[in-house]
Amino acid sequence: MKKINIGLLGLGTVGMGTAKILIENKEIITKRTGVELRLKKAADIDLNKKRDVLFEKGTLTKEALEVINDDDIDIIVEMIGGKTIAKEFIIKALKNKKYVVTANKALLAEAGEELFELADKNKVDIAYEASVGGAIPIIKSLRESLAGNNITSVNGILNGTCNYILSKIANENIEFEEALAQAQVNGYAEADPNFDIEGFDTAHKTAIMASLAYGTKVNFEDIYIEGITGIAKIDIKYAKEFGYLIKLLAITKDLGNSIEARIHPTMIPIDNILSKIDGSLNAVSVFGDAVGELMLCGYGAGMMPTASAVVGDIIDIARNIIFNTKIRIPIAGFMQNQIKNKPVLSIDDILTNYYFRFFCIDKPNVLSQVAGILGSYGISIKSVHQKGRNPQEGVPVIIITHLAKEFEVKKALKEISALDIVLEKPVLIRIEDESETDTAAA
Ligand code: NDP
Ligand code: HSE
Repeated sequence: MKKINIGLLGLGTVGMGTAKILIENKEIITKRTGVELRLKKAADIDLNKKRDVLFEKGTLTKEALEVINDDDIDIIVEMIGGKTIAKEFIIKALKNKKYVVTANKALLAEAGEELFELADKNKVDIAYEASVGGAIPIIKSLRESLAGNNITSVNGILNGTCNYILSKIANENIEFEEALAQAQVNGYAEADPNFDIEGFDTAHKTAIMASLAYGTKVNFEDIYIEGITGIAKIDIKYAKEFGYLIKLLAITKDLGNSIEARIHPTMIPIDNILSKIDGSLNAVSVFGDAVGELMLCGYGAGMMPTASAVVGDIIDIARNIIFNTKIRIPIAGFMQNQIKNKPVLSIDDILTNYYFRFFCIDKPNVLSQVAGILGSYGISIKSVHQKGRNPQEGVPVIIITHLAKEFEVKKALKEISALDIVLEKPVLIRIEDESETDTAAA
């Protein structure tokens, strides 16, 4: 039986999951491919860690280069992460004309173009399904299944760690730090969890996903990013009272000559399907002119779900090797000479609904001053709620708006913050509410 040899770099969470599937599910993989996919070598800098996989004798090494330079290895699976040594290893592998599988969204978001070009030049593929949405086949969907559509929007929950934290606080009222620690123990978080909680990981995934969807190069630096560290428990509680949950959403739209791409905590109606996406689950909603709305959901992080996507990529590449069909699908989803450079809309120009929490002195005429300033910037109020009564210390005042432009909102909040009756910096959380958008469009 023909054998395709695989070399694995990095035996951490996802690397170990990948090894486990390749070894323990060998029989089903062979039945599906007709070849033996053999994990010939696997490298990690620490071979003393206890690992619960039965590797073939001689598989493990401390030297990644020994794997990359092995002439018998066809596919290199990079599971180290980061933008330095992982990049060097991928470049070396491509130059050695080896196919590459990676889950490294940070690297792809920032150096994808360079690596894709190098792969093209060396006539080998780079597969990266696990880089966005963990187990969810969103890359395959965008590059293959939906290739006949003009795609107009792709939105979703793309970070398992943040979704786990927000769900735990909303459902179990636990503290942020405790929820983050649990996410780390479960293997969801990045080596530096600030990438997760500050929204950068979601932005890396968004850059990859939006580029594929719209055939334009989306620079990570152009994406508006706000993570979840500024979300107070009290806002999660109030959101629920008003019929919303807070999720870290990636929102992207093709606007024709520009695209929208933003990441921020977002209130979504409790009856919205994304509100049901709990814990480390991710979900992506794609709108295409032929398909309508398509929703994909699954585990976005963790050892085995992520490794499932990695092994899917290895099998795809093995099949290409068997039939000698390299780069059958353009790596970036579009023919290279068709990829555009549309600008990303500034956050100031977006139109959405807002939740504001002001902490105000509790006395007559306060609401009219706040509402007056909002009105003077054309911001229409949908509802106002004063939480409690406390003439001595002040009270939270919640205002929910109809659709408003971010630029006007910023100016209004600056003016409101300067009022003597406002005791703390106002809180702003954007709301995505389709019923409002429909009303505005009607
Ligand atoms: P881990 O930190 O768990 O694993 C990385 C492994 O690589 C560690 O064992 C590390 O060793 C090892 N390593 C570091 N440097 C080298 C080197 N020079 N040669 C060989 N091995 C090395 O990371 P994850 O498995 O969580 O993530 C891997 C990749 O997958 C990242 O790009 C990540 O963004 C991505 N990803 C992760 C997901 C998840 O749920 N965890 C989901 C989707 C994508 P040591 O620990 O000793 O430094
Ligand atoms: N740290 C990432 C997350 C891993 O929590 O979603 C999956 O990309």
